Amino acid sequence: MTYIDLNYQPRESDLLVWFYAEPPAGKDMKYVADRIAEESSIGTWTDLKTLLPDIWEKLRARVYEIDSSRGYVKIAYPLHLFEVENMPAILASVAGNVFGMKSVENLRVLDIRFPRELLDRYPGPRYGVEGVRELAGVYDRPFLGTIIKPKIGLPAKMHAEVAYEAWVGGLDIVKDDENLASQDFNRFEDRLSLTLEKKDLAEEETGEKKIYLVNITAPYKEMIRRAELVEDSGNEFVMIDVVIAGFSAVQSYREEGFRMAIHAHRAMHAAITRNPRHGITMLTLAKVYRVLGVDNLHIGTAVGKMEGSAEEISSIREEIQLQKVPPKEERFEQEWFGMNPVLAVASGGLHPGHVPAVVDILGKDIVIQAGGGVHGHPDGTRVGARAMREALEAKMQGIPLEEYAKEHEALRKALEKFLK
Ligand code: 3PG
Ligand code: 3PG
Ligand code: MG
Repeated sequence: MTYIDLNYQPRESDLLVWFYAEPPAGKDMKYVADRIAEESSIGTWTDLKTLLPDIWEKLRARVYEIDSSRGYVKIAYPLHLFEVENMPAILASVAGNVFGMKSVENLRVLDIRFPRELLDRYPGPRYGVEGVRELAGVYDRPFLGTIIKPKIGLPAKMHAEVAYEAWVGGLDIVKDDENLASQDFNRFEDRLSLTLEKKDLAEEETGEKKIYLVNITAPYKEMIRRAELVEDSGNEFVMIDVVIAGFSAVQSYREEGFRMAIHAHRAMHAAITRNPRHGITMLTLAKVYRVLGVDNLHIGTAVGKMEGSAEEISSIREEIQLQKVPPKEERFEQEWFGMNPVLAVASGGLHPGHVPAVVDILGKDIVIQAGGGVHGHPDGTRVGARAMREALEAKMQGIPLEEYAKEHEALRKALEKFLK
């Protein structure tokens, strides 16, 4: 019995997985491909008296391509194998036990191609890029945001004051940090109401719409209670640490039907995505989160403090924003059949000096966020925010930053500090 069938032509309805695999010493790629297909579909380490012929026929995975020189294994799974609307369980098959088997030395899910029959069963993002633009009143340019820093420590009242400074300085978005929850010096309820008061004030003073991304990440019931508070407050967004909260929580949260758009922070993703020979690519995770229905997703910056090459990150951006994603090395062709796109978020180690490069790499449908790059400005948060806005103005007008900085002091001082 082998799961290898190199003549198999995958069907449109199959779920396809592109693996990178390394066999253990003394074994070849065929061996490892067979073990992966077996464990991720219906089999186990030995043959089974209970594996009836019709189960084998209907439900087994098929290895339809092996490229030994590059370590690629492509496997087709009949959709019938899965409970289609249960994403956690689908991942338990194709990205579950297989990573821990002794029969693979290293294993990485490079991409998953979702068939239409699956996509039709998920809501996808409620707002998508256009919807988020309408909520925020920001058109024809990237969004600018900040993360309140220090990431933890400010009492709720000061948090709200710093948010106000950032908004009136010129930013669209203020975001809680990924580990800010409801600490005893900064209670969720207090932070929400105080920050929203300041948001109203900033909107009045600037005449611009302002956005607050409040972190509701918590054990599920508490997360829902916090979401209800946010809904009652009239705020338009929540933020969830989607990897940490878990696939089940993200899927369930989206199905609760809250009005708020979902800003997805990806903290912990790198434990899964970073090793180039093992784990799951960020591209794959990003696709899963598009299916589950987040509206904004951190995908990396290509510049700044986090790892990830420009090529990889623009590939992820395409994957979450296009309707037809063309195939390329380590990426399937994927059609999204009308599912809303996701606003890409570049965050981590950014400052005004990075703005032109980030826009060149990722385009306009992005949020550019800077924490240290705003609150670390020599003249403080408000001027730091202005420097970000000036950097974007310069970029949108095609003027080099150094030139624009000559007549824009906030930007000049930012560049002096951050580019030295
Ligand atoms: C951080 O807090 O360090 C950054 O938000 C990480 O950003 P990422 O989600 O883009 O990796
Ligand atoms: C984030 O959560 O995205 C980060 O806190 C970014 O922080 P930084 O701009 O100071 O790296
Ligand atoms: Mg952070």
